[in-house]
Amino acid sequence: MDKIIIKGKSSLSGSLNVHGSKNATLPILVSSLLNLNDLILTNFPNVDDTKNMLKLLNSFGVKINKDKNKYIINSFELKNITADYDIVRKMRASILILGPLLSRFGYAKISLPGGCAIGTRPIDIHLEGLSKLGASFKIENGFVIGKVDEFLVGTLIELPFPSVGATENIIMASVLAKGETTIKNAAMEPEIEDLCICLNSMGANIQGFGTSTININGVAKLYKSNHKIVSDRIVAGTYIIAAVMLNSRFEIKNLNPNHLVSLIDTLKIMGANIHIKKSSIIVDKSYKLQSAKITTLPYPGFPTDLQAQIMALMCLVNGNSVIKETIFENRFMHVPELNRLGAKIKVIKDTAYIKGNQTFKAAQVMASDLRASVSLILAGLCAEGETTINRVYHLDRGYEPIEKMLSGLGPDIRREKK
Ligand code: EPZ
Repeated sequence: MDKIIIKGKSSLSGSLNVHGSKNATLPILVSSLLNLNDLILTNFPNVDDTKNMLKLLNSFGVKINKDKNKYIINSFELKNITADYDIVRKMRASILILGPLLSRFGYAKISLPGGCAIGTRPIDIHLEGLSKLGASFKIENGFVIGKVDEFLVGTLIELPFPSVGATENIIMASVLAKGETTIKNAAMEPEIEDLCICLNSMGANIQGFGTSTININGVAKLYKSNHKIVSDRIVAGTYIIAAVMLNSRFEIKNLNPNHLVSLIDTLKIMGANIHIKKSSIIVDKSYKLQSAKITTLPYPGFPTDLQAQIMALMCLVNGNSVIKETIFENRFMHVPELNRLGAKIKVIKDTAYIKGNQTFKAAQVMASDLRASVSLILAGLCAEGETTINRVYHLDRGYEPIEKMLSGLGPDIRREKK
């Protein structure tokens, strides 16, 4: 298993371009199953989760061609449509294939995704919503098997919680259904907007995405389309926090600042010196930052996927901070590792209490999940001495090689392949 070694304390200078969004690419790739014509994607993130999704689709018989920076996806001929445990357990987003397969074939057999480091990750909201459209499910030998007697029929679906994945699954199942579907209490994340923009470019008829009420009018078929994937707001936010932690003037390019309002507002309240441009953000040197109290919430609230990263920053600021995690039940796996690097954080139930005015000191640490791993990288960049982060395969799921992204920009960071 690869490890990353950082010789801190680092600085950052210059700029970097943020890559396409993993969490937009995954549902968009799956949506190609609804289309018998080519789907051409650009700004495609080269991360392990998207590579795994391409492998899964390829195992179904989907044709995938790469032409320079374009991916051409064609799902006209499909052979197998069962998603096996070994792929699904590595990538929970595989559950998103339920909607399109039920829509196209009236049948789907997918290994239950199971839990992961951050929580049990149930799929009840997905199954309830798809059942309302006319699917029926049974759980057998660790698989969820879905069937549709005739065809899916549009209806009103009120989500008990604005689940991102369930919203995406229901949207995709509704695109070719008979009649109109209205999803209330829908998730509003930019990745869902990007999925709907892509589906509409194929000929779907979706309104209201980006709000909590989404309307989908079923259409007969979809057509060839080109789509540029939206920039990854979580990767962008990660590098913004890195620049603030390293107190460096640095520009993060190729992003939509409107997707990061909650993070930017929080950093500004803490005293960070941030300038917003049309498609980039400049972080400048700032004086002693102050502590903050944040609660993670569904979009547009503070994103749970940036919780570990801002926690690393909070160790360095003046005063004590508090983070309440409301989205996942076990998303503080980075705390013991940050404490090994010199942080003083304690967790009581769903809340972390972070002591400020600390300094990070190099140590060996272990990554546990995607975003926890990157918070250890951020701390390592600020730590005196040589920090080693083990099991960085977690990181590679959602970040293009971070040591390449940062090389030549100041940090002494390298990867040791095992
Ligand atoms: C998506 O996961 C993202 N993954 C996650 O990013 C992100 O943290 C999460 O949304 C929240 O923003 C992808 O888009 C591939 P949810 P998802 O359904 O869809 C509970 C990363 O680091 N829930 O909104 O699984 C669930 O247990 C990953 O890139 C149910 O109870 O998130 C969780 O507590 C991590 N029943 C909460 O809702 C369900 O049927 C939020 O889950 C579904 C979800």
